[in-house]
Amino acid sequence: MDKMWAGRFEKASDKLADDFNSSIHFDKKMYKQDIKGSMEHAAMLCRAGILSPEELGDITSGLAAILHDLDTGELAFDMNAEDIHMFVEAELTRRIGDAGKKLHTARSRNDQVALDLRLYMRDEALEVVALLKKLTRATLELAKKNTETIMPGYTHLQRAQPITFAHHLLAYCMMFLRDVTRVLDAVLRMNYSPLGSCALAGTTYPTDRDSVAEALGFDGITMNSIDGVSDRDYVVELEAAFATVMMHLSRFSEEIILWSSWEFKFVELDDAYTTGSSIMPQKKNPDMAELVRGKCGRVYGDLVATLTMLKGLPLAYNKDMQEDKEAVFDSVETVKACLEIFIPMIETMKPIPENMYAAAKRGFINATDLADYLTKRGIPFRSAYKTVGTIVGKCVKEGKTLDEVTLDEYRSYSDVFGEDLYDEISLETCIRKRISRGSTGYESVKEQIAYVEEQL
Ligand code: ARG
Repeated sequence: MDKMWAGRFEKASDKLADDFNSSIHFDKKMYKQDIKGSMEHAAMLCRAGILSPEELGDITSGLAAILHDLDTGELAFDMNAEDIHMFVEAELTRRIGDAGKKLHTARSRNDQVALDLRLYMRDEALEVVALLKKLTRATLELAKKNTETIMPGYTHLQRAQPITFAHHLLAYCMMFLRDVTRVLDAVLRMNYSPLGSCALAGTTYPTDRDSVAEALGFDGITMNSIDGVSDRDYVVELEAAFATVMMHLSRFSEEIILWSSWEFKFVELDDAYTTGSSIMPQKKNPDMAELVRGKCGRVYGDLVATLTMLKGLPLAYNKDMQEDKEAVFDSVETVKACLEIFIPMIETMKPIPENMYAAAKRGFINATDLADYLTKRGIPFRSAYKTVGTIVGKCVKEGKTLDEVTLDEYRSYSDVFGEDLYDEISLETCIRKRISRGSTGYESVKEQIAYVEEQL
């Protein structure tokens, strides 16, 4: 088949060059968006008197038939077409003849691809948002069942202070809620139609860009035609938002992997979301969580690939920009796949409160509260801190916990210690007495649950 630009050329391109240049094997993913955009473009050309109503009718029904046939698989993509845009236009012309050749009036593939990508990413971004909300909901439900489940909170992966499992899970809910706003925020800035920017300088035809933008659900049009076809900052922003989602998922994965080890055994993952070993009969491995953690790097890579691809490009369009698609498709598909597996994994994950409690009992995580006990009885915090440090040091040597130290011994360090100290440093009291907003205290956790519910 002759190239569209055969007129200008004296010989055909090399087969190797064609293959290297072609993007249909990946940009075919945007066929729905491409056809939708073309339909609205044609409708506008008709309103502007550039196409007759008959031509528009042929184009619209031709495109609808192509869409149908691609959906059902009756029509296969022609891998010899350079890209999805060329393929649809050529197929339309093959089917309806001359009217098909008029579709590309007042348009270029440069604004066409920018449009398709925005439409595609808007659809996908909203799907990611829906999945993020579902994951937030699953995490919240688990939190609601574990408001009384006490576990050690960590810093440096060393037991630090008692918290509830609900409080820990709610931390992730807050991250996911922000992820939702990050994605939506990027969509807000992206939601302007570049169509009608044409190759780079606009067009001499009396087009109406705004009406096309409105029909396609955009908030307006891009105001500079060079910018419209040149920038891919919306790709970068969404990839960055997805990289952040993956970073959060990866941290959560890491904890789930630790928690399901025999060293912790704070949770048991459902059989359906774990795997066995080909050799070790006892194994139950958290592969899903590990894969999510592993895939995080790919999504970071997609972001860096796009940023690097863009950094030296002169305005306006350059073919380098065709490289944006595989990166962003990978980013979208990876984040969606990870969220899709994470949701049921969280929904079926069983906490083991006894083990969390047992871990919380050891490790002196109530030492801060013991220091606070002294402080509230007139001892300056630094002195109290030192006294408790000395007691902890002795306990470590003797293999004791703080509630195993006798009152007599406590009083040998300070005479403000009284019988009530044991209740004051019980794990339940440590939680109950955390009264600051946002803390692990029962009231605060209730407030956090209500907050997440409301945001959802
Ligand atoms: N396949 C191209 C891309 O993805 C479409 C735009 C091509 N424009 C051009 N002037 N070669 O970027």
